[in-house]
Amino acid sequence: MTPEFGDGTRVVHAFAGEAGDPFGAQPVFASAYHLGGQDYYGRAGNPTWRALESALGALEGGECVVFPSGMAAISTLLRTVLSTGDTLVIPSDGYFLTRKFVSEMDVTVREVPTAGPYPSLDGVKLVLLETPSNPGLDVCGIADLAERAHAAGALLAVDNTTATPLGQRPIELGADVVVASDTKAVAGHSDVLFGHVTLASPELAGRLRDARTLNGAIPGPFETWLALRGLGTLDLRLARQAENAAAIHALLKGRIEGLRWPGAPEDPAHPVAARQMRRFNGVLTFVLEDKAAVDEFLARSRLVSAATSFGGLHSTADRRAQFGDPVPEGLVRFSAGCEDTRDLVADVSQALGLD
Ligand SMILES: Cc1ncc(COP(=O)(O)O)c(C=O)c1O
Repeated sequence: MTPEFGDGTRVVHAFAGEAGDPFGAQPVFASAYHLGGQDYYGRAGNPTWRALESALGALEGGECVVFPSGMAAISTLLRTVLSTGDTLVIPSDGYFLTRKFVSEMDVTVREVPTAGPYPSLDGVKLVLLETPSNPGLDVCGIADLAERAHAAGALLAVDNTTATPLGQRPIELGADVVVASDTKAVAGHSDVLFGHVTLASPELAGRLRDARTLNGAIPGPFETWLALRGLGTLDLRLARQAENAAAIHALLKGRIEGLRWPGAPEDPAHPVAARQMRRFNGVLTFVLEDKAAVDEFLARSRLVSAATSFGGLHSTADRRAQFGDPVPEGLVRFSAGCEDTRDLVADVSQALGLD
């Protein structure tokens, strides 16, 4: 699909097919193939993977390799790029399992808050950013840090889960690698785990593909097809989610502590986010008094469910301290879904006692 088309057109037409074909790629459930063609064994290749990889790769400007979850994507990237004794920079405020994973690797880990300041990158092998970070929604300048990383001889990777492939294109900003959990907005329906890595270097993409074939942790064709099917409506869903997040932000502004949404002009992350993000999404954060206040909010709401994921059709809220994030007890990561804006705002307003 040519890049001059808009995002909605690109995701809808990424797998349109030709006369006689079904609309969209269908899942191919083969383990073994008749030898002599492109595919020979399901652990090494699958046409459904390639359909999604070509769509995500085209959106992100690199070669995409799909994985069965975001953590499978992240852990395979880290194991492939890092050797014993290497130094890695990761966010101190990003996804907690990435920190836990590297703490068990034989590498030197430097944790830096997403908003900086960033120390000298001399001697660093890989800088992994997460912008906007989950759950604090701070951002950092990808282009500046890519330049600094490259000057120090390091690779720069960006966890793009929160932003999505339509919200941010790290490779265009100078990053070497994009890694993401597509369990969230890309698949978008809270019914599948999925992940991918997109790489600027075909050589490194080949190494990731080989690692996937060797470690055998591969995505199933049906799960791949679900993610592919979700991608087709990502543009539409993001539009409604961002509209809902903006409306919830307007409702809570000045009335609830710790309100963060990079899409709001008054948010501290906004200047950098507006420079490098192509659009905003439905994830915002705010802080209620304590656990009891969050429990009461969830009990009173008819539309917002407690759930630990984000980017899905349904509005959800997650009290992140329960999973060990170093955040206040009452911090809520709120994922605005695709409900009618009027209904969601009315529901959140009554549930928080703001009426
Ligand atoms: C920023 C970020 N990266 C990675 C992951 C891991 O993805 P998965 O749950 O698909 O393994 C998550 C999951 O919440 C996430 O929020």
